[in-house]
Amino acid sequence: MFPLRRVVPVAMLLFAAHGSAWADAKQDVAMKQLAATSGCVACHSIESGQPGPAGVAPIGPAWQDVATRYKGQEGISEKLLKTVMEGSNPYASHWKGKVSGLAMPPNAVAIKEADARKLVEWILALKQ
Ligand code: HEC
Repeated sequence: MFPLRRVVPVAMLLFAAHGSAWADAKQDVAMKQLAATSGCVACHSIESGQPGPAGVAPIGPAWQDVATRYKGQEGISEKLLKTVMEGSNPYASHWKGKVSGLAMPPNAVAIKEADARKLVEWILALKQ
């Protein structure tokens, strides 16, 4: 019914679209929406090298940089999840000199732990 020469190109197109979605986590629309509705994007960009407000350093680190810095470290998801929920320590800043924000406020008011966990896993999967 469907000649192969028609089915194959369609299959290839579908595969290409699907393949790029996997290869490029930063295109994940659901995760981007979750980050936006949870207020994270007021301080974070996904991609490195974005300027912050008024041309100063961005308020929080770009999430690609977070991934590059921590990827593969043992127990890192749990550590980052705790920081996201409870906020970071302004006296022991992890991004001193690289960002203009002194510390991250606790986000527990704005996001459920299960959703924050999803965001952290997604952030750690980002590639430069
Ligand atoms: C009001 C600004 C602000 C908001 C909103 C915010 N962050 Fe942050 N975030 C920061 C700053 C500033 C840092 C850097 C903290 C440091 O230097 O230790 C940071 C750091 C981080 C880090 C890295 C922590 C580390 O130990 O290196 C992650 C992951 C992160 N934020 C995720 C999130 C997520 C997910 C949300 C939304 C639920 C969010 N942030 C909302 C300002 C913010």
